[in-house]
Amino acid sequence: MKQFLVGNRISLHGLRPEDLTVNSPYYSWLEDLSLDQYTERSYFPNSESRMRAYYDASTKNQSLILLGIFDNDSGKHIGNITFQDINWLNRRAFIAYLLGDDSFSGKGIVTEAVLMMMYYGFNRLNFNRIYGGVTALHAASMKVCEKVGLKEEGRMRQHFFRNGEFSDSLVVGAVRDEWMSEFGNKAKDLFQIPPTYQRL
Ligand SMILES: CC(C)(COP(=O)(O)OP(=O)(O)OC[C@H]1O[C@@H](n2cnc3c(N)ncnc32)[C@H](O)[C@@H]1OP(=O)(O)O)[C@@H](O)C(=O)NCCC(=O)NCCS
Repeated sequence: MKQFLVGNRISLHGLRPEDLTVNSPYYSWLEDLSLDQYTERSYFPNSESRMRAYYDASTKNQSLILLGIFDNDSGKHIGNITFQDINWLNRRAFIAYLLGDDSFSGKGIVTEAVLMMMYYGFNRLNFNRIYGGVTALHAASMKVCEKVGLKEEGRMRQHFFRNGEFSDSLVVGAVRDEWMSEFGNKAKDLFQIPPTYQRL
């Protein structure tokens, strides 16, 4: 098994070339427009080179970390999770996630993946703040944010225009000390080997 962020049920690892091919699960999720109700992938056609360019950006620039979510039992690649717009000076990052394999939805997978990613961000990458944005129409994603301690901090009005309507974007966020005292132990318990504490 690949070793990076190894959890009890799921693990988060860097992608390999075979995860990006036309026959990969990842490719098929991006072709599945039913997953795109609240995101913006379907506006442009998918291709291996587009996926490759995104992957390459994650390996070449330090403001993006892209990890696959893998099911430990089957080894299946079932989703992705990212830190984007990483600002190392101010020690903050934007978090985003995608569960691609629908057969795993509603089982708490994204909740676990986000808790693991936030633990990694706060303890290994020395972030002080992790934030995200979710459309106010997306009840399941807002529920995930609530369960992982990404608290509502604000609302950007009519931020998205999708499927013919505007919707607000909720700004959600967490700061390290508060989050660690509330969610740190819960998140740590999800790992087989928790990322090392590296705080400056
Ligand atoms: C939305 C998404 C992130 C949820 O992932 P998941 O692994 O199924 O989420 P979890 O099982 O960890 O948690 C989902 C929670 O939302 C709840 N939920 C699901 N549908 C809901 C709905 N329509 N209304 C309210 N709550 C809902 C679930 O009951 C669960 O809460 P619970 O554990 O208290 O029962 C995932 O389906 C996804 O990535 N979808 C496609 C892309 C996308 O929308 N990405 C997010 C962009 S912000």
